[in-house]
Amino acid sequence: ASTLGAAAAEKGRYFGTAVAASHLGESQYVSTLNTEFNSVTPENEMKWDALEATRNSFTYTSADRIVSHAQSRGMQVRGHTLVWHSQLPSWVSGLGATDLRSAMNNHITQVMTHYKGKIHSWDVVNEAFQDGSSGARRSSPFQDKLGNGFIEEAFRTARAADPNAKLCYNDYNTDGVNAKSTAVYNMVKDFKARGVPIDCVGFQSHFNSASPVPSDYQANLQRFADLGVDVQITELDIEGSGTAQANSYSSVVKACLAVSRCTGITVWGVTDKYSWRASGTPLLFDSNYVKKPAYTAVLTAL
Ligand code: XIL
Repeated sequence: ASTLGAAAAEKGRYFGTAVAASHLGESQYVSTLNTEFNSVTPENEMKWDALEATRNSFTYTSADRIVSHAQSRGMQVRGHTLVWHSQLPSWVSGLGATDLRSAMNNHITQVMTHYKGKIHSWDVVNEAFQDGSSGARRSSPFQDKLGNGFIEEAFRTARAADPNAKLCYNDYNTDGVNAKSTAVYNMVKDFKARGVPIDCVGFQSHFNSASPVPSDYQANLQRFADLGVDVQITELDIEGSGTAQANSYSSVVKACLAVSRCTGITVWGVTDKYSWRASGTPLLFDSNYVKKPAYTAVLTAL
């Protein structure tokens, strides 16, 4: 196949990208998106601050633009993200425990009901664990006020709201085998043992020279898959350029293809022109929408 999406589809996977609604009027952006990708993740438009800036008043305009674009082109949509400590309105962090619990459950229910039947996978909870060796939960309004049970509660509420969406836990620095990924692994194992609904784990996979593609990436994906969940590479970008960057991309694709439950890969943007990464060139198309060596490496590996 000659495009990322078609090549991934031949392997039973999707190949997606983060999309910003603000660029959907740019013809080169849209033509690259439409030609190459068969899944999209709204980069910011489904975050809590974008959807519910004021309590119980929901604004879906920008997120709906992305979803209808995707639907009209037959692309899947990953929902990102329902419960996260970042891009969270201050009204949420100011609530006491009782109100926070009902606000969290209401947010999940309202948003998932609005998009019911349109979302392939939801990142129900994002980044709930600390970096480093402790394996502990990250401090957040949800963790600090509701305790460890907030993740389980969020997943149970999500399952009730849209029983057909796949429910994912998503995080970064969990790509290799380490204390943080093992803490997530133990949570997923516990959820599966107790029947808490969870279908997938997302590995953000933001890589750079300080945090390269881990040598045990495939082994880590496989140990999660062996728990009975799908795994997805959800926010892939790799800083660098040329052959080194291309080789890193290739190794990520090969790791996913080697794990039968690795169901898809999403890169965190269409073009270097709009990447969120400071150093600027972590994606598959350069700022003029020219295919980079990394693009060719991905297409070849697929
Ligand atoms: C980033 C977006 O790309 C930026 O535009 C925004 O300013 C900050 O968030 N982990 C996540 C994503 O789960 O939502 C983040 O996206 C990148 C890190």
